[in-house]
Formats: sequence, structure tokens, C-alpha cells
Amino acid sequence: MSGAALAERGAALAEPPATAPADGALRARILALRDGLEHGLIGCSGLVERLMIGLLTGGHLLIEGAPGLAKTRAVKRLADGLDGSFARVQCTPDLMPADLTGTTVWRQDSGSFEFLPGPLFHSLILVDEVNRAPPKVQSALLESMAEGQITVAGHTHPLPDPFMVVATQNPIEHAGTFPLPEAQLDRFLLHVVVEMPDEASERAILDLVEGELNHHAEAMPVRLTLDEVRAAREAALSVYVSPALKDYLVRLVAGTRSDAAAPDLRAAIEHPASPRGTLALMVAGKARAYLHGRDHVVPEDIAALASDALAHRIGLTWRAAAEGKTARGIIGGLVQRVRAL
Ligand SMILES: Nc1ncnc2c1ncn2[C@@H]1O[C@H](COP(=O)(O)OP(=O)(O)O)[C@@H](O)[C@H]1O
Ligand SMILES: [Mg+2]
Repeated sequence: MSGAALAERGAALAEPPATAPADGALRARILALRDGLEHGLIGCSGLVERLMIGLLTGGHLLIEGAPGLAKTRAVKRLADGLDGSFARVQCTPDLMPADLTGTTVWRQDSGSFEFLPGPLFHSLILVDEVNRAPPKVQSALLESMAEGQITVAGHTHPLPDPFMVVATQNPIEHAGTFPLPEAQLDRFLLHVVVEMPDEASERAILDLVEGELNHHAEAMPVRLTLDEVRAAREAALSVYVSPALKDYLVRLVAGTRSDAAAPDLRAAIEHPASPRGTLALMVAGKARAYLHGRDHVVPEDIAALASDALAHRIGLTWRAAAEGKTARGIIGGLVQRVRAL
């Protein structure tokens, strides 16, 4: 029996699905997942919020930070809170696209080809140190993220839904890395930068991890089913964005293209953000509003996420870069200068 037929039979034998929880109950479970993540990730509420936004929008995340800042831990913890399959890929310069996508093998006994799916065929995938993977692997990954399917040996295979990629990269390691192509960076909904913890957080990390070493690990309080994730996604994406707020979004992104908002900031930009960036910011803003218990987006949702949603989609001029300007700084400046309403 084929895998699909087996799955179908399994579904038929399973209990009938419980009726979908009312919106409030579902949101409570989403917030329990968020709180469970925060509990095990000291001082990482920004990262946790963005992981939740990725989950609620179907968006992929690129997390950048030095080693040892709980990036892997964060994604593993998210996997613990989800009733879906999880895979981790450690990127190295000798990784090949088939190591991600899978391969087709010849089966002597049945006299036919069989597709052996690779780690991409999971609901949540941690791609560690993505900038150490060679360009062909990166492009296979980015293509799957954009299209929700993979073509191997001429056959197209759909990826699971939900399908969420969280890639990490280490900014200090340059030798032997392949920077992600700028044009493909915008496959990521958000680019999140994690910083060193402050002293109080670091102290709390010691206690937490010491406790875990002594077998006092706190399990995730919930384990969301994929149906719940899909339902929450629908609810989050139906959050209202007013026409005035859409105008604000457009003004903000247009500030990367024209001199209307801030000519000095615009002059630092070589490649502006595309409409994909504007859409990403709107969708991320909806998910943030949902997490904050609102049925509508407010300017604060947009301002809070603008750098993470837009900075990786713009390129600075060499002069601006040489002057030490950063894309995040430019977007931050635009947020301060563009009037919200
Ligand atoms: N903010 C944090 N909260 C909890 N544990 C942390 C935190 N920062 C670091 N750690 C601990 O430090 C270690 C390194 O974490 P890891 O997820 O492997 O880092 P990374 O993937 O960023 O290199 C782990 O033992 C983790 O528990
Ligand atoms: Mg790691």
C-alpha cells in the first residue's frame, strides 16, 4: 500500500476530529505555545514573537546571531510544541541539493524507481548555518520556500502544509561561507538578529540550564496540531488592516524608492524593497496584532516589524556601507520619519 493510501486509511480509522475550538480557545492555545517558548528562552521575547509570526503566516525566518545564543534551542522548542514532523540540517560546504530534497533510487525487487524524500519534507525545518551551504543547495532550499514544492528528477513533489523553514547564520564566520544571494534573501518573511543577553538574563540562563542538566526540564505546555496551526493562520490573516494603514505601509516602503519621505536616507539605498516586502510587512503585522489580541492592525505593529521585514530586502550603496550605515539603521530612520496616519 502506498504511503498516501496508508495515510488515508489512518485518517479514516482515527477518531472523528473534535469540532474546531472557538476562536478564543484557539488563540489561548497559540498564546500558551508562545508562553512555553518564552519560558525556555530567557530574554528572547522578540525572537519568540517572530517565530510565532512565522508560524501564523506561513512565513520563513532567517535568524542571525553568534553561536551559543539559543537559536537551535528556540527552533527545537517550537518543534516540541507542534504535532508535526521536524528535521534539522547542518549545512557544510560539501552538502548537495539531494541531501535536502531527497533522491530517486532504483528498486531491483519491484523493477521501478522510488523517491526517498529528504529532510525538506517536514513541517518544520531548521537549516543551521545556511551560509555554509554551497549555492546550489541554497537555491534548492529557496526554491522550495517560494513554491511549496520540489522537483527531483523531473517529478514535482508537494511539500507539507504547514511548511516552515527557519535558517540560521553566523555573522562572524566569513571563511568558507557563501553569503545568501541578495535577490533570494527576500524569500524570508523576516530576518531576525539575536543579540547577546544582558547580565540578568545570563544569570537566569545558568539557573535554567543547570536545572535541565538535573532533569528538571520543563516540557512545552501545549502541543498544537497542524489543523490548529492552519485554523490560527486563517484567523490571523483575516485581521483587519484599514485603508489608512495600508497607505502608511506604502509610504514607508516607498521611502526606500523615492525622495518623498527622507532624501538623505533614500540616497543610501542602491536596491529598494519590492512589493513582496510591503506584503510581508502587512502580513507580519496582522500576525502580531493577532498575538496581541487585536482584530485590527495598528501602526505600532508595522513600526515594530519594519526592520525585520524590510532591511534584508534593500541593498545599500557602497558609499553608505563604507560610512558604516546599515540597512536596519536606514529602515529604522524611515520608521521615525514617515508619519503613521
Ligand atoms: N536565552 C537563552 N535561554 C536559554 N538557554 C540559553 C539561552 N542562550 C543560550 N542558552 C543555552 O546555551 C546553549 C547554546 O544554545 P544553542 O541553541 O545551541 O545556540 P546556537 O544554536 O545559537 O548556537 C544551550 O545549552 C542553551 O540552552
Ligand atoms: Mg545552533
